[in-house]
Formats: sequence, C-alpha cells, structure tokens
Amino acid sequence: MAAAFSTAQRLPVHHFGILGGRIDRRPPLTAVRTAAASDTAIPAYEEGELARPKWGGETLLSRLVGAIISFKPFYSVLKLGARNVLISTAEKNDIPWREMTKEVLESDVYTELEKIRNPSLVYPDYYLSPFHAYDDGNLSWLAAAEAEAATLSMHMRAIPEADSEEEATRLVRGNWLKAIQQHHQQHSGNLPIKDILDIGCSIGFSTVYLADAFPSAQANGLDLSPYFLSVAKYKEEKRGQRKNPIRWIHGNGEATGLPSKSFDLVSVSLVLHECPARATINIVNESLRLLRPGGTLVIMDQAPESKVIQELSPVLFTLMKSTEPFLDEYYLLDLKKTIKDAGFVDVNLFLTDPRHRTATATAPY
Ligand SMILES: C[S@@+](CC[C@H](N)C(=O)[O-])C[C@H]1O[C@@H](n2cnc3c(N)ncnc32)[C@H](O)[C@@H]1O
Repeated sequence: MAAAFSTAQRLPVHHFGILGGRIDRRPPLTAVRTAAASDTAIPAYEEGELARPKWGGETLLSRLVGAIISFKPFYSVLKLGARNVLISTAEKNDIPWREMTKEVLESDVYTELEKIRNPSLVYPDYYLSPFHAYDDGNLSWLAAAEAEAATLSMHMRAIPEADSEEEATRLVRGNWLKAIQQHHQQHSGNLPIKDILDIGCSIGFSTVYLADAFPSAQANGLDLSPYFLSVAKYKEEKRGQRKNPIRWIHGNGEATGLPSKSFDLVSVSLVLHECPARATINIVNESLRLLRPGGTLVIMDQAPESKVIQELSPVLFTLMKSTEPFLDEYYLLDLKKTIKDAGFVDVNLFLTDPRHRTATATAPY
C-alpha cells in the first residue's frame, strides 16, 4: 500500500553560523508526514535544523575548507587520507575492498572496453579533472575496480547500526525502490514500466536493482565512463542470464542522443553530487525529454537536510569535500525547484535513509 506524505510549509528564517557565514534555515521536508501504517512504509528519517551543512555552500567555514583543499600539498595529503579512511573503514566492516579490487583487475574485463566505448563521445569538462582521489577521475580501471566496494561502504556509512553490509544495502536501496514504486503507482496513470534508463549507472549497482525489481522491463544503464560500464557488463555476465539482458550505453546524461519519450522510468542515483549545477539542470531536462507522459523520474542522492550530514565532524567533512569538487554546488542547488522548473509535476522529496533523499516526479501528460 502506498504511503502518503505531506509537507508543512513554513517561511525560511536565517541566522549566522559559528564563523559568521549566513546559514539558511529551511522548512522541514516532512514535518507533517502521515505514512500509511503498513509494512512497506518508509520510516521518517531525522532532518537537521538547517537547509544544508555549515560546511557546504557559501559559508565562511565552507570557504575555509575550500581554501585548505585547494592548497596542493594539503590536497595530496587529504586525498591519501580520504582513500585510507575509505579502505580501512570498508575492511573493518567486512567489505574485502582489496580482494574485490584485485578480482576485477586480474579478470579479462579489459576486453570489454573497446566494445563499449563510444569513440565520438565528447566528455564534459567537469568530468576530466581528478576526482574521488583518482588522478584520472572516473576514467580509470582502478576507479572502476574499486567502485563496488566503495558503494557497499557508502551503504554502511548511511546505516552504521546495520549488522552487515547486506542489511545496510537492503535498506538504502529498498527504500529508494519503495519510493519509486509508490510514486509510479500514485501518479503514472497506470503507465506500465517497460523501458528504464539509469543515468550515471557506474558499475551497474542501481541498474541491477531496477532490472530485478521490474523484470519484464528493458533496463538500460548509461554512464560517461567506459571503464565503469565494462565492469558493469563483466559483473552482470557473471551473475548469469536474465530474460531481458541489461543494455550498457556509453553516453552523457546531459544529452543522451536517445529517442524522446522512449522511457517509463528514468533514474539518477548518487550522480548529482558529482556534477556541477549546470550539468544537473541539463540531466533533469534531458530526463523530461526521454520520459513518456506519466513516466517517473527518480533522483536519489546525499541529503543536505540530513541531521547526520549536518553534524559530520570537521575532519570527516573536510576529507569528504577533498574528493568531491562539486559538493558545494550540489548543496546550494534547490533540487525540487530544478525538477519543477524543468516541467515535471507531482514532485516529492524526502529522506529515504539517514543520509540520502529521494526525489520523485512525473512527466506531464
Ligand atoms: C556514484 S556513481 C553512481 C552509482 C550508481 N548509480 C548507484 O546508484 O550506485 C556516479 C556516476 O555518475 C556518472 N556520471 C557523472 N556525470 C555523468 C553524466 N553527465 N552522464 C552520465 N554519467 C555521469 C559517473 O561516471 C559515475 O559512474
């Protein structure tokens, strides 16, 4: 049974943060939230008092962290620190980061690259800078080989009280899927989900979830990195046959070149915090072009509204920002407004785990 949510409207007020920067307070996303009592209801996760963390956006603290990161010798140290924290935290949580990476690097995944690569694709400028502590950003085998372990650790960070990585993954991805199913059921006018596009599919984690949840649909994973797509294809083939094999597309979510009105569900999961605002706006507009009337857009990503994110320790957020160059732009952009401005209707946005929010919206008829 679908859960019904409503949002209380209050005017934003402003106050000054500890370092003097102006911080927006915001109306709560889900202050009045009436979830239907059912096993499938998504729990209400706690929001902080601010619109975004003090270290994100244009505050003094944010600029201070930015200045530290932009100082090259510091950046190199931070980059290494961030990487070591990621690997050791993963291994402490029984995610065998180095073994998983080795398995991919020692496989024959390399043979996929030329088959999947679109030689005429022009990469957007933002995609060509160092990223996630990799000098070649997402355009490298190491980044692709480590992506699954990094994804599983991210789930554990989102649900630290989970007993296992499987439990954390089930919760993060399960709530996201519920949000999709509930939204589509309520707003699509019974449009069947036959064609799915997963923009920024990386190594296919989200795509496989969607393909499993909608087995009669044709799922497509699209990404800018042919290395990630090669790993996605390699991992999916190892899982065995499925009725509708996933298609992997090397493309840019800002301008996919795919036919208009050819999808019933477009997903953008954990992509936008890696993009400048202009790319986010293009991806949202492109999603509208690609969806059939009644089709659903779902965007899951970090929640600036999250209490946990707002209360991250200074060391953690400095490490995080050191490998995520567009975090400030992401935190400053009003995602709900961006989706509405593109022309979507029935726009909803709420936390689907302690650190992430899911926005759902419908392409108008
Ligand atoms: C963190 S990964 C997303 C992982 C996956 N969707 C999930 O939910 O686990 C972000 C992905 O977005 C991709 N990406 C960034 N900008 C993109 C764009 N303009 N078009 C397509 N993919 C993009 C990156 O290459 C990367 O693989």
